[in-house]
Amino acid sequence: MNTKQFTDMYYIDRKKNDSVKWQRGVKMDCLPMWIADMDFKGDQKVIDSLKEFIEKGDYGYANLPKDYYDVLIDFHRKRHGIEYKPEWIRFTKGAIDAMYQVIYSLTELKDGIMISTPAYPPFYSTVKESGRKLYTTKMIDNGGYFTFDYKDIEARFRKGKISMFILCSPHNPLGRVFKKGELEELFELCKKYDVLVLADEVHCDIIMPDQEFYPALSFKKYRRNIVSICAAAKSFSLAVFSHCHVIIPDPALRKKFIAYQRHTHTGSVNVFNALSTYYSYKYGSEWLDGVIDVIYENYSHFRMELSPYYEMTNLEGTYLLFVNIAPYNKDRTAFDTLVSECNILANAGESFGEEYSSWVRINLATSPANIRKAVRSLKKLAKEKQDQACS
Ligand SMILES: Cc1ncc(COP(=O)(O)O)c(C=O)c1O
Repeated sequence: MNTKQFTDMYYIDRKKNDSVKWQRGVKMDCLPMWIADMDFKGDQKVIDSLKEFIEKGDYGYANLPKDYYDVLIDFHRKRHGIEYKPEWIRFTKGAIDAMYQVIYSLTELKDGIMISTPAYPPFYSTVKESGRKLYTTKMIDNGGYFTFDYKDIEARFRKGKISMFILCSPHNPLGRVFKKGELEELFELCKKYDVLVLADEVHCDIIMPDQEFYPALSFKKYRRNIVSICAAAKSFSLAVFSHCHVIIPDPALRKKFIAYQRHTHTGSVNVFNALSTYYSYKYGSEWLDGVIDVIYENYSHFRMELSPYYEMTNLEGTYLLFVNIAPYNKDRTAFDTLVSECNILANAGESFGEEYSSWVRINLATSPANIRKAVRSLKKLAKEKQDQACS
């Protein structure tokens, strides 16, 4: 299926639904390109399978399908060459919930937790609200290609107050799919200073054609020091179902996590929500390949048209592009400039780190027609500002 056929078949007008993204867009008279979900409905076989469950009308207590773990493991083996074990996998109701549970169960109140910036906003809030001390390390911007500052990370680790590093891989908002060597260097430092890695890998399946994703747990040498958060929610746009996996190979860490879930009664799985993941992993691979092609085409068009005017990240994975609006936003934030001059609702750069107010995060998981519309208004903005500067 080519990208036009995919868009014709799966793009949905979400204005008439209770979509958080579109309702805010309509209210502000903007094209919504913010919050991380997609404007595509799922594969028909996934929809039909969920319908079939609903129509049976049996809503009593239920078990997961017998082959739930096989389907999940098979999906990740085929896509990423990793072999998860069923006993490593626990459930939570979403990735943020998973982060809180991992922090509460595997760190102490006195512990420090490091994140690299710019960072997905809940990385800041989960650490702060769980009462742990937040440490940040700024990523190095090599003209829109951001990398870890290992020297800074090591210098802070050396002081001995940090016990966890939260990694976002692939990276939101930077769209980075880290190279094997980059992850190895980070994991080596974490091992050396006894810092546990919490790898948020919820974007792991949206990988651009020329990239390779290395799951954190594929690094066997560091496996016992890593907990992975992984879900189908981003890959198949299933946010409404709030279902997520926490993967913990180390038995001692797992024991602590399970004990926490028992105490807090958070370990039980919502079977209906889990079914959306199960059917998507089982039947959705072709759909996923199709949506990646659309995102890549959207990105290629965006980059080709706008890179002469704007600094932007390389989209290696995810569908989220970080774009620098400077020098067209003078006294305003990039977010405000886009709302008032382009009628585009993006995510404000400063929500990812206070120094990024000239940046916005733009969601590319929409129709090529919407992307063209956004490109036209961004180009107009840049040209008008350039003309004003010349006159
Ligand atoms: C990196 C990352 N982690 C976690 C989440 C939130 O996931 P959930 O809605 O499952 O809590 C998102 C949502 O965009 C995300 O991008």
